[in-house]
Amino acid sequence: MIYKSYYKLLEIDKKYNIIKTWFIIELGCFPGGWSRYIKTKKNFLLKIDLKEPIIKKDVFIKGNFVSFKIFKKIFYYSNFKKTKLILCDVCPKISKHKTENKYIFLKTLKNMFYFVSFFLKKGGNVVFKSMDYIKQKNIEFFFSYFKTIYKEKLKSSKKHTSEIFYICKNFLYEF
Ligand SMILES: C[S@@+](CC[C@H](N)C(=O)[O-])C[C@H]1O[C@@H](n2cnc3c(N)ncnc32)[C@H](O)[C@@H]1O
Repeated sequence: MIYKSYYKLLEIDKKYNIIKTWFIIELGCFPGGWSRYIKTKKNFLLKIDLKEPIIKKDVFIKGNFVSFKIFKKIFYYSNFKKTKLILCDVCPKISKHKTENKYIFLKTLKNMFYFVSFFLKKGGNVVFKSMDYIKQKNIEFFFSYFKTIYKEKLKSSKKHTSEIFYICKNFLYEF
């Protein structure tokens, strides 16, 4: 079975040619559309989610991607090596209240930025999902760490979705 999300990553990769690095970290991998696409290429995929993925191949770590326990496991599996590609399609549980949603999503993105500072190599890339209700000025500080930023509304996303993707290329620092 191929999940719809498979086509989102395919669309991004066709345009930006990012799935070419060997070691990839994927945040929010359930049910497994992106993982499936990544596995059409030959790489070492380390994936993290609160839920068990349907595709059981690859190294999977269950839990909140920003917890210290998870960080320790990533260091263990990666042998303390950083990656040149982090993919983040994490979607936190949302509520009925718009302002609360904004806050929750922004907090998730900030956690992702924190994660990136630990695990991304200089020159590396990040693809992450945001929502159009997240103002660009709130995440701009993250962009300043990359040479080039692209913003994409995907054809393969649902018609009236508010999701947008950012492709951040060439990380300028390594912490
Ligand atoms: C849209 S789905 C990801 C779809 C996936 N890219 C695919 O292709 O199948 C979002 C995922 O983010 C996960 N998630 C939400 N918050 C998380 C967190 N703090 N840590 C890890 N995973 C999280 C959810 O469990 C959910 O499976």
